[in-house]
Amino acid sequence: MNFELTDVQRDIQRLCREFAARELIPNARKWDETHAWPTEAVKKLAELSLLGVAVPEQYGGAGLDNVCYAIAMEEISRGCASTGVIMSVNNSLYCDPVMKFGTEEQKQEFLVPFARGEKLGCFGLTEPEAGSDAAAQKTIAVRRGDEFVINGSKNWITVGPKADAIVLFTMTNKEAGNKGITAFLVPTHTPGFIRAEPDKKMGISAAHSCSMFFEDMRVPARNILGKEGEGFKVAMSTLDGGRIGIAAQALGIARAAFEEAVRYSGERQTFGKPIREHQAIQFMLADMATEIDAARLLVLQAAVLKDKGMRHSLESSMAKLYASEMASRVANKALQVHGGMGYSKEMDAERHVRDARITEIYEGTSEIQRIVISANVLKE
Ligand code: CAA
Repeated sequence: MNFELTDVQRDIQRLCREFAARELIPNARKWDETHAWPTEAVKKLAELSLLGVAVPEQYGGAGLDNVCYAIAMEEISRGCASTGVIMSVNNSLYCDPVMKFGTEEQKQEFLVPFARGEKLGCFGLTEPEAGSDAAAQKTIAVRRGDEFVINGSKNWITVGPKADAIVLFTMTNKEAGNKGITAFLVPTHTPGFIRAEPDKKMGISAAHSCSMFFEDMRVPARNILGKEGEGFKVAMSTLDGGRIGIAAQALGIARAAFEEAVRYSGERQTFGKPIREHQAIQFMLADMATEIDAARLLVLQAAVLKDKGMRHSLESSMAKLYASEMASRVANKALQVHGGMGYSKEMDAERHVRDARITEIYEGTSEIQRIVISANVLKE
């Protein structure tokens, strides 16, 4: 077993770390406070080919592997968790399914400009009554000749307010349950596509999400992604990859929190010495460092399996479950190391706690990950 990164993987890590130090870390607190979409940072992600990391070069991507993607996600999210999730939505939830299930014609229209970062995509699965129970889709698509008429709504769609297209999940045959779900590629300028104001959230405040409504929205049948009735599998296999991205995002948030705790513990003095010379702090730092490394191994394991083309539902869920809960534990401990200053908006510790929390919820709550994991380990 080789734990060394390749030269390319190390180059990506360095590139992303430098970018984060230069463009993200100095701005992340301000973007959080003002809820400002990081326009310039997203533009630069595109210039660095970070919006289609694992998409082949012929389709506008960087043509790298999923290990590179996970490494990049960790570094970018360490700099700014909001920028991290914007990157992950376009890479994992949008480009990945178009690459995997799209026709050549669909790839030219709906992948190339998105992998290049000229346009942004999003993923429309969640509905007011279909969150964890993703198969309970109420958005209805009815065939009328060569097109479908879509009515319904989605909510919590990350990147929704800025997206140029959506992978949209609909019910085309209610009686068939999860086998009646169909995915469509829909430009957001389609008549009948309505977006609400951005949601007000606890964290990742610069990564805007919104509800959306579809009123008699007509979409050509040629925009079906995958096969009619196979949308649930498109959604689930996409989330297998997406969960690697969110696990890596959680890892990046945890590292940011940990590194600040290490620094602060050298500056802050109590009882005549820096607090890092007290065993109470040392033990916290030791636990944080160990958990961060454990999470990274799970993330890389899932990414390696994805690169090998192997089923990775179990490993992705394990990575997402562990990394997200770890990020909350680490961010909370980092805040504790900062004492009263950790609770202040003058420091980043409280933002990391807020940003970490969502990683336990989106792309499947911790409870959903435990369902996926137990179903896999109990399989005959
Ligand atoms: N890959 C391929 N197929 C899969 C699959 C996978 N990973 N997982 C399940 N399937 C298939 C099954 O094999 C099964 O097929 P058959 O009927 O042919 O055997 C079918 O799908 C149904 O599977 P289940 O019976 O397991 O389905 P379920 O209804 O019990 O649901 C679930 C399973 C895991 C709970 C699923 O509903 C789920 O993952 N829920 C959470 C949804 C979620 O993560 N939403 C996140 C929204 S996106 C987001 O959050 C984005 C953002 O903001 C950043």
